[in-house]
Amino acid sequence: MIRAATTGDAPRIAALLHRNMPHPWTEDAVRAALSSPTSVLWVREDDAMLSGVLILQLCLDEAEILTIATEKARRRQGIGRSLMEYALREVGPATVFLEVRAENTGAKAFYEALGFTPYGVRKRYYRDPVDDAILMKFVNFLKIPCQTEKKTV
Ligand SMILES: CC(C)(COP(=O)(O)OP(=O)(O)OC[C@H]1O[C@@H](n2cnc3c(N)ncnc32)[C@H](O)[C@@H]1OP(=O)(O)O)[C@@H](O)C(=O)NCCC(=O)NCCS
Repeated sequence: MIRAATTGDAPRIAALLHRNMPHPWTEDAVRAALSSPTSVLWVREDDAMLSGVLILQLCLDEAEILTIATEKARRRQGIGRSLMEYALREVGPATVFLEVRAENTGAKAFYEALGFTPYGVRKRYYRDPVDDAILMKFVNFLKIPCQTEKKTV
């Protein structure tokens, strides 16, 4: 099940991000996003376990993916795709932007599979370790072919 996150989810979201990202958001940062009028958080639950989270920022007809993560043991089962498709349909027509570490080849492949295309590079944008940011965007996302839940159990 995918649903909008609530403040009660903040500790579990932070814990999931901590387990699955080298530079995770703190619980305070998650709480700040939950109370921000321009941020939207969705979680995916399977058997009452949080298996994924997506955090997005909205500004008029533009959206930015701030982060997305799937629990390591549940990857490559369509969870990330289901979250992204859900979020993009909820947001409606918009140009969607994101930044991803150049070395994060798995995430880049994921975004490309969802239809995002690279449009620029911010050299040495990230620290610990230093890395370039690949800028990607997706326009007219309502044409995403729907494969939601294709492999989930
Ligand atoms: C990126 C991430 C969210 C993808 O989540 P996921 O649930 O595994 O993704 P899905 O199973 O929905 O993948 C959909 C498609 O994306 C592509 N894809 C996903 N992960 C991939 C990988 N590691 N390598 C290559 N392609 C990949 C595939 O085409 C996949 O379809 P397939 O499994 O039928 O081949 C997950 O790997 C993750 O949490 N990574 C750590 C956190 C992170 O780096 N987030 C991004 C920060 S910018």
